[in-house]
Amino acid sequence: MDSGRITVVSANNMSMVKLPVAVEMRGIVKRFPGVLANDRVNLSIKSGEVHALLGENGAGKTTLMSALCGLYRPDEGDICLADGSVGGAKVVDIGSPRDAIQFGIGMVHQHFRLVHNQTVSENVILGLADTPLHLDLKSVGGRLLEISERYGLPVDPEAYVWQLSVGEQQRVEILKLLFRGAEVLILDEPTAVLTPNEASELGNTLRHMCAEGKAVVFISHKLDEVMSFCDRVTVLRDGRNVAALSTRETDKKALAKLMVGREVLFRLDKSEVAFAEGALSVEHISAFNDKGLSALHDVSLSLAGGEVVGVAGVAGNGQRELAEALTGLRKVTSGKVCVNGQDVTNQSPLRFIRAGVSHIPGDRLGMGLAGNLPVSDNLIMKAFRHRPLSVGPFLSKTAISQFSDSLIEAFDVVTPSRNTPARNLSGGNQQKAILAREIATGDGSGDVGVNVLIAVQPTRGLDVGATEGVRRALLEQREKGTAIVLISEDLDELLSLSDRIAVMHAGKIMGLVRAVDANMEEIGLMMAGEAS
Ligand SMILES: Nc1ncnc2c1ncn2[C@@H]1O[C@H](COP(=O)(O)OP(=O)(O)O)[C@@H](O)[C@H]1O
Ligand SMILES: [Mg+2]
Repeated sequence: MDSGRITVVSANNMSMVKLPVAVEMRGIVKRFPGVLANDRVNLSIKSGEVHALLGENGAGKTTLMSALCGLYRPDEGDICLADGSVGGAKVVDIGSPRDAIQFGIGMVHQHFRLVHNQTVSENVILGLADTPLHLDLKSVGGRLLEISERYGLPVDPEAYVWQLSVGEQQRVEILKLLFRGAEVLILDEPTAVLTPNEASELGNTLRHMCAEGKAVVFISHKLDEVMSFCDRVTVLRDGRNVAALSTRETDKKALAKLMVGREVLFRLDKSEVAFAEGALSVEHISAFNDKGLSALHDVSLSLAGGEVVGVAGVAGNGQRELAEALTGLRKVTSGKVCVNGQDVTNQSPLRFIRAGVSHIPGDRLGMGLAGNLPVSDNLIMKAFRHRPLSVGPFLSKTAISQFSDSLIEAFDVVTPSRNTPARNLSGGNQQKAILAREIATGDGSGDVGVNVLIAVQPTRGLDVGATEGVRRALLEQREKGTAIVLISEDLDELLSLSDRIAVMHAGKIMGLVRAVDANMEEIGLMMAGEAS
């Protein structure tokens, strides 16, 4: 760059500020105690593009974008905004999010920052640089509607935030930025909280914004989304740049390798497994959901040991209730559940565990782990009642340490130590810890017969490396003869892990197909409610 052109401006100096047509971050360094989160990172964002910032958990994506939106000041490096002249750029000093928005830069954070007991309009004007003396909510609402229509972000300006779904709240965050005139919009893993449908709608909106000349930074570790709606991609690994390319000149496999630093297998090889009949048998069960509405209707399934039956379906079609009914967490109103030939219908969760049922819940930190407790305590939660961890009423500290360390090693749980609180682990490592606890030990009483594992969205929100690890662990369990019910919204995952796939719609099983014969179209139709 021609250094003669660089002028430093501060956000207060509005007369010099033009909306940026591009952003260039150069040599950004950001250190946290003991961590080099960004190590001389470069990023160049053009207006009119959706730019993916791709990297595994902890790669430094959020830190880098926090510098751009004024939350952190980098320890080293420059942020330049183009000033409209050919090749011209200014180094800018972005000291706060308010500075950033004055430069036209705004970020939607992973955890939304909305005030729940205020309306959408009120949230949008909250914290505006020049809050008008008389808040004209009506005109704000009108303008919001205009913007929301233009970009396909439907939302009711008068609704209270607490009334909105997560997807709608995200739209409000985006609208807030658009209302403030943002030209560079940063979205931090926006699809992590969305259904596949909502995610593809968001993709359309982002395409729309960039068609109007805005620049979008899309932080993600989901390769499908990066390939389907981003123009260029910058890959970070361990706080450093590893690549910047156009999505047209790359593919999922290459991106995964750049991101993880090794070859990643999307399809794992399944070995032939001899099935042991009768591990789990579900006969004509029906159940209500929490609202008292019919959620499961006459569902039947039977699994052999060593068999994976995938359950496909759009979220909210009874999958959750099915998992609960199969783990003793929800009563069925009719029908029968048998595990290893033992009738456990409407028994307690403990009886299900004793019969051989393990559970990987969909809600990792809510139901899966006690976040404040050390990793080791979390690992022993199922096995502690038995030798060698306890003898009579006494827990053996040494045995617990040995047991935890062996699981941490066997399942490759990355943690500073067994004493680290579980909530400090990355999502992938939390999931591996749950898996380790659930499947390594069974109940420990030794006479459970075939283990049955109910796995709910086991790889949701995990990056590709962690996803591969979890999938491998599931297949290993299959090879050991465990019967696995795999509930997932990821069809690729279902097709690659399952022996058979059951498709759920409105609480019913619409069809059951062998995975080798299955095709996406047929499954898609059944997910939409057409019987096979
Ligand atoms: N506020 C903070 N204090 C200390 N360490 C942090 C902080 N924020 C992030 N880190 C560390 O910096 C690294 C990069 O984190 P982050 O930017 O959040 O990664 P990503 O968004 O790619 O998952 C990680 O090792 C993380 O633990
Ligand atoms: Mg992040």
